Amino acid sequence: MKKIGIIGAMEEEIKRLKDKMEKVKISNIAAMDFYEGNLNNASVVVVRSGIGKVNAAICTQILVDRFGIDLVINTGVAGSLRNEIDIADIVLSTDALQHDMDATGFGYKVGEIPQMKKSVFEADKYLIDLAEKVCKENLPNVGVHKGRIVSGDQFISDADKKEWLLKTFDGYCTEMEGAAIAQAAYLNNIPFLIIRAISDKADHSAEMAFNEFEAIAIDNSVKLLTELIKRI
Ligand code: ADE
Repeated sequence: MKKIGIIGAMEEEIKRLKDKMEKVKISNIAAMDFYEGNLNNASVVVVRSGIGKVNAAICTQILVDRFGIDLVINTGVAGSLRNEIDIADIVLSTDALQHDMDATGFGYKVGEIPQMKKSVFEADKYLIDLAEKVCKENLPNVGVHKGRIVSGDQFISDADKKEWLLKTFDGYCTEMEGAAIAQAAYLNNIPFLIIRAISDKADHSAEMAFNEFEAIAIDNSVKLLTELIKRI
């Protein structure tokens, strides 16, 4: 059976998963609690990484080194970068990059990581297709989109910045961990998928919307994830 690492940045994003787990063993490493056990008959390690790319990358590496995971899924909320992607919709990552990586002074493109073979990390095709199918079957009224996720250590709440992220990177949604998990997965040669439900529109209304819709969005991503892991 495959061992699935599941990372959420915030407690709310993973609480319901942890509550449903059986035969749980908890290990505290790098100030993160790793919940190892069974969820819906799948073998999982569920963990709150904390917010931002550094926490997310450290968390992923620990999942690989200490728990021997076969694949990693990042679940949580995100800000939409496109009109057609609405609050509570789901975005499945086709790939992910870091929008705040900037070595343009040395002639690199914005988002390009100097001296690395790649800066855009592709999610696993099998996981994307399976998640799309599971979403359509189990959440028929929720919009599901497949596209690029752009991550940075910034909460985006500015229409100009949002427009820039869309134009520069062709992003579908923005958040603060996914691309770091994607990069760590790539470096360790394991598949990944980012599942994000939309909590806000990443513009002037973002903070208010986030507070209002976070719970609804999380509900959708948790529902999808719990059904998905049964079928991996
Ligand atoms: N997570 C949820 N909404 C976000 C936003 N607008 N910017 C960054 N991360 C987010």
